[in-house]
Amino acid sequence: MSVTILVGGQWGDEGKGKVVDLLADRVDVVVRSQGGNNAGHTVVSEGREFRFHLIPSGILCPDTVCVIGHGVVVDPKAFLAELAHIQAQGVDTRNLVISDRAHMVMPYHPVFDQLGEQQRGDDRLGTTRRGVGPTYEDKVRRIGFRIGDLQKPKFLEKKLRFVLRLKNETLTRLYGAEPFDEQAILDEYIGYGELLDPYIRDIYPLVQGAMVEGRRILLEGAQGVMLDLDLGTYPYVTSSAPTAGGALTGSGIPPSRVTNTVGVFKAYTTRVGYGPFPTELTGELGEYIREVGAEFGTTTGRARRVGWFDAAVARYAVNTNGIESIVLTKLDVLDTLETIKICTGYTSKGERWDHPMANISHLKHAEPEYTELPGWMTPTRQCRSFAELPAPCRDYVEQLAERCGASIDAISVGPDREQTIIRRPLI
Ligand code: GDP
Ligand code: IMO
Ligand code: MG
Repeated sequence: MSVTILVGGQWGDEGKGKVVDLLADRVDVVVRSQGGNNAGHTVVSEGREFRFHLIPSGILCPDTVCVIGHGVVVDPKAFLAELAHIQAQGVDTRNLVISDRAHMVMPYHPVFDQLGEQQRGDDRLGTTRRGVGPTYEDKVRRIGFRIGDLQKPKFLEKKLRFVLRLKNETLTRLYGAEPFDEQAILDEYIGYGELLDPYIRDIYPLVQGAMVEGRRILLEGAQGVMLDLDLGTYPYVTSSAPTAGGALTGSGIPPSRVTNTVGVFKAYTTRVGYGPFPTELTGELGEYIREVGAEFGTTTGRARRVGWFDAAVARYAVNTNGIESIVLTKLDVLDTLETIKICTGYTSKGERWDHPMANISHLKHAEPEYTELPGWMTPTRQCRSFAELPAPCRDYVEQLAERCGASIDAISVGPDREQTIIRRPLI
């Protein structure tokens, strides 16, 4: 029996999808535990590209059971579109399961997401506008709809009558927006219920059974630690807990069962949306790395902001999540740089910080402290062992490991499954 947690260690898009796909055939069950279709996970296998938003990135492994856990919020329309898309790509989805406890994105949630952003004006967060935040809001407010509600049309109808009145009042009175029609939503969602029925399960027996039977479980995180509601750059965060803790509550697995926590980190840093980013490169170099790294969002197509590796952020993620193994991705993107910097801490208001501070306006203006290393100026995409990497590249990796306080057990040197260096098995 093993339980491996996989989290993104930065602001998302670290390459988690690739790593989950890589590990999927070493496990029996993959559970996606939080987030929604705000996530975009790209997997490249034998030159073919697959993009996942809600469906776990382990789905390309037909024998691995892929679970959408109860910590996830599911937009049924988006889920069905994604399902149809990957089925058309020839992916076998018979082993896909959705928790009946997972909350549902309702048609008004993306509207509230958009209106909320408009209302914030210049202080907008830059959300993905998928309605994920408002869905979690309703979950906490205890007026959310769960996937299992689709199997109880009478209950769904009664609850919708109550909730939609609240929603429509807010929409019309506060925002001057159009109200939603109750019957239209009911018809739409009852239709989704019929299509989703084969996938909906109580995942408690499945997950507990897997542990009792000694199976190997991988918990797939979305987003990243710096987008966590508590640990991240609040309010410029997502509305869930993309941490090791969130992975456990989102799947129903106790902490005592965890075998290993893997953190995925990009060899530099990116961020989509607004909020502080101390090591951001706003000039030509940032532009260059964005082009070489194809840093454009999988979900919204937005250009990702780019910056140097921030070891203060990474160490914070390692320490708050108990990360023991690091997978370093996109090392190849730095292949042509003459010099490379690592941020080791910040100075803010005359004080030195070795981790990101809670005060985001201080973090925004913090002066990063850098150590500079020579680049390797050699292509690394063909390397398949650590020894094959050029010496300055190995030095960079070793420096990162030391500064993060965890070992770098795997290195990704290209988007394809094959373009990976495994130094120590992660599972
Ligand atoms: P996720 O959200 O953490 O799964 O990451 P995304 O899929 O949103 O973004 C990572 C992007 O980088 C994807 O387009 C991947 O195909 C790509 N990628 C992953 N690993 C590597 C790598 O080692 N090198 C390069 N050049 N691209 C990579
Ligand atoms: P993956 O799983 C990068 C960001 C959004 C925005 C903030 C809040 O692919 O790494 P939300 O729609 O969640 O309310 O937006 O969070 N964000 C992500 N950034 N990768 C993601 O997921 C993200 N999911 C949300 O850009 O800044
Ligand atoms: Mg992504």
